[in-house]
Amino acid sequence: MTMGWVTVAKKNELSEGQTKAFVVEGKDIAIAQVKGNYYAFFNECSHAQFPIDQGTLSDTVIECPHHGATFDITTGEALTLPAVTPLKIFKVKVDGEEIKICFED
Ligand code: FES
Repeated sequence: MTMGWVTVAKKNELSEGQTKAFVVEGKDIAIAQVKGNYYAFFNECSHAQFPIDQGTLSDTVIECPHHGATFDITTGEALTLPAVTPLKIFKVKVDGEEIKICFED
Protein backbone atom coordinates (compact mmCIF):
# COMPACT_ATOMS: atom_id res chain seq x y z
CA MET A 1 0.00 0.00 0.00
CA THR A 2 1.33 3.43 -0.88
CA MET A 3 0.02 6.41 1.04
CA GLY A 4 2.14 9.04 -0.65
CA TRP A 5 2.91 12.45 0.80
CA VAL A 6 1.56 13.32 4.23
CA THR A 7 1.91 16.63 6.08
CA VAL A 8 3.76 16.19 9.37
CA ALA A 9 4.47 19.68 10.63
CA LYS A 10 4.79 23.33 9.76
CA LYS A 11 8.25 24.78 9.16
CA ASN A 12 7.90 27.16 12.10
CA GLU A 13 7.45 24.24 14.53
CA LEU A 14 11.14 23.37 14.27
CA SER A 15 14.08 25.60 14.99
CA GLU A 16 17.63 25.11 13.76
CA GLY A 17 19.24 21.98 15.19
CA GLN A 18 16.01 20.78 16.76
CA THR A 19 14.47 17.32 16.56
CA LYS A 20 10.82 16.80 17.36
CA ALA A 21 8.54 13.78 17.61
CA PHE A 22 5.25 13.48 15.76
CA VAL A 23 2.69 10.74 15.33
CA VAL A 24 1.67 10.48 11.71
CA GLU A 25 -0.85 7.94 10.50
CA GLY A 26 -0.20 6.01 13.70
CA LYS A 27 3.56 5.91 13.17
CA ASP A 28 6.18 7.53 15.41
CA ILE A 29 8.17 9.94 13.28
CA ALA A 30 10.95 12.36 14.16
CA ILE A 31 11.74 15.44 12.12
CA ALA A 32 14.99 17.36 12.44
CA GLN A 33 15.94 20.70 11.00
CA VAL A 34 19.60 21.24 10.11
CA LYS A 35 20.70 24.38 8.28
CA GLY A 36 17.29 24.92 6.76
CA ASN A 37 16.90 21.35 5.58
CA TYR A 38 14.43 18.91 7.09
CA TYR A 39 15.07 15.23 7.71
CA ALA A 40 12.51 12.61 8.71
CA PHE A 41 13.11 9.26 10.32
CA PHE A 42 11.32 6.60 12.28
CA ASN A 43 11.42 7.67 15.93
CA GLU A 44 12.71 4.33 17.05
CA CYS A 45 16.36 3.47 17.45
CA SER A 46 17.32 0.36 15.49
CA HIS A 47 19.26 -0.94 18.52
CA ALA A 48 16.62 -1.48 21.21
CA GLN A 49 13.60 0.30 19.74
CA PHE A 50 13.64 3.24 22.15
CA PRO A 51 12.61 6.70 20.91
CA ILE A 52 15.51 8.67 19.49
CA ASP A 53 14.04 12.18 19.18
CA GLN A 54 15.65 13.27 22.47
CA GLY A 55 19.07 12.36 21.13
CA THR A 56 21.84 14.86 20.59
CA LEU A 57 22.04 16.23 17.08
CA SER A 58 25.43 17.32 15.74
CA ASP A 59 25.02 18.53 12.20
CA THR A 60 23.27 15.57 10.53
CA VAL A 61 24.35 12.93 13.04
CA ILE A 62 22.05 11.98 15.88
CA GLU A 63 23.23 10.18 19.00
CA CYS A 64 20.70 7.93 20.67
CA PRO A 65 20.20 8.99 24.32
CA HIS A 66 19.87 5.38 25.48
CA HIS A 67 23.11 3.57 24.59
CA GLY A 68 24.95 6.07 22.44
CA ALA A 69 24.55 4.69 18.93
CA THR A 70 24.88 7.33 16.22
CA PHE A 71 23.13 7.55 12.89
CA ASP A 72 23.50 9.71 9.81
CA ILE A 73 20.00 11.15 9.42
CA THR A 74 20.55 11.89 5.73
CA THR A 75 20.95 8.20 4.91
CA GLY A 76 19.89 6.38 8.09
CA GLU A 77 23.29 4.68 8.23
CA ALA A 78 24.29 3.32 11.64
CA LEU A 79 27.68 4.87 12.40
CA THR A 80 28.42 3.64 15.92
CA LEU A 81 27.73 0.51 17.92
CA PRO A 82 25.59 -0.80 19.51
CA ALA A 83 23.38 -0.12 16.48
CA VAL A 84 24.20 -2.12 13.39
CA THR A 85 21.07 -1.71 11.30
CA PRO A 86 20.09 1.60 9.71
CA LEU A 87 17.49 3.98 11.03
CA LYS A 88 14.50 4.07 8.71
CA ILE A 89 14.36 7.41 6.98
CA PHE A 90 11.61 9.05 4.92
CA LYS A 91 11.77 11.34 1.92
CA VAL A 92 10.89 14.92 2.83
CA LYS A 93 9.59 17.83 0.82
CA VAL A 94 8.63 21.32 1.85
CA ASP A 95 5.41 22.59 0.32
CA GLY A 96 4.91 26.23 1.28
CA GLU A 97 5.02 26.17 5.09
CA GLU A 98 4.29 22.47 5.36
CA ILE A 99 6.79 19.68 5.86
CA LYS A 100 5.65 16.52 4.13
CA ILE A 101 7.05 13.04 4.20
CA CYS A 102 6.48 10.17 1.84
CA PHE A 103 5.16 6.88 3.15
CA GLU A 104 5.81 4.06 0.82
CA ASP A 105 5.87 0.36 1.44
S1 FES B 1 18.25 2.09 21.97
FE1 FES B 1 19.49 3.48 20.84
S2 FES B 1 21.51 2.85 21.26
FE2 FES B 1 20.29 1.44 22.35
